[in-house]
Amino acid sequence: MELRKINKRDAFAQWEYTSALPADENGLTNPYHGVTYDDYIDRVLPEMISHEHPVNMPDWFVPETYYYLWDNNNLVGEFRFRHRLTDALRSGAGHIGYSIRKDMRGKGYGTAGLGMTLDIARSVIPEEEIYLRVNKDNIASQKVMLNNGARIAGEDSEHYFMRIPK
Ligand SMILES: CC(C)(COP(=O)(O)OP(=O)(O)OC[C@H]1O[C@@H](n2cnc3c(N)ncnc32)[C@H](O)[C@@H]1OP(=O)(O)O)[C@@H](O)C(=O)NCCC(=O)NCCS
Repeated sequence: MELRKINKRDAFAQWEYTSALPADENGLTNPYHGVTYDDYIDRVLPEMISHEHPVNMPDWFVPETYYYLWDNNNLVGEFRFRHRLTDALRSGAGHIGYSIRKDMRGKGYGTAGLGMTLDIARSVIPEEEIYLRVNKDNIASQKVMLNNGARIAGEDSEHYFMRIPK
């Protein structure tokens, strides 16, 4: 199992994943749902890669890096992290978002992939804890976070706000 940063070589598998990922599943948003392969190559992939070193982006935009989890040459999930918090992220989506391919869920990939993402994110993120947000009805994702040392730091009517020490 390995995490690979988004890249041009893996374009086809990344496109299959991104185009199939719902526009919003449990609060994980994907503006590229349904994108064609040509549009992915011409516009979306360069845009996603550029988010790590944003150019000409609004002030509120925080650098974000996309990784894919691979097992036996199969792309099984996506893990993205924002390099630091803003006020909106602190009280909102936090640092990390992830998803696992529908037919690969429940096999431990979410837990393993978040652990590998944390290993990378810890050396980039300046805050003392990694912030995550999860819907109260998303038991699988809560377990993925708890399996990686998260604690519940707060809640509102729909979400738990979780934190993982660095
Ligand atoms: C959340 C998600 C990433 C979990 O990935 P996964 O690979 O299935 O996670 P794991 O296999 O590591 O399972 C973690 C735990 O959840 C449990 N679990 C898995 N699917 C479950 C389900 N549908 N209902 C309840 N528990 C579930 C597993 O049994 C495991 O429990 P354990 O820790 O007691 O062994 C995946 O379901 C997903 O992509 N969901 C859609 C996107 C999403 O919700 N992203 C997170 C937004 S915060």
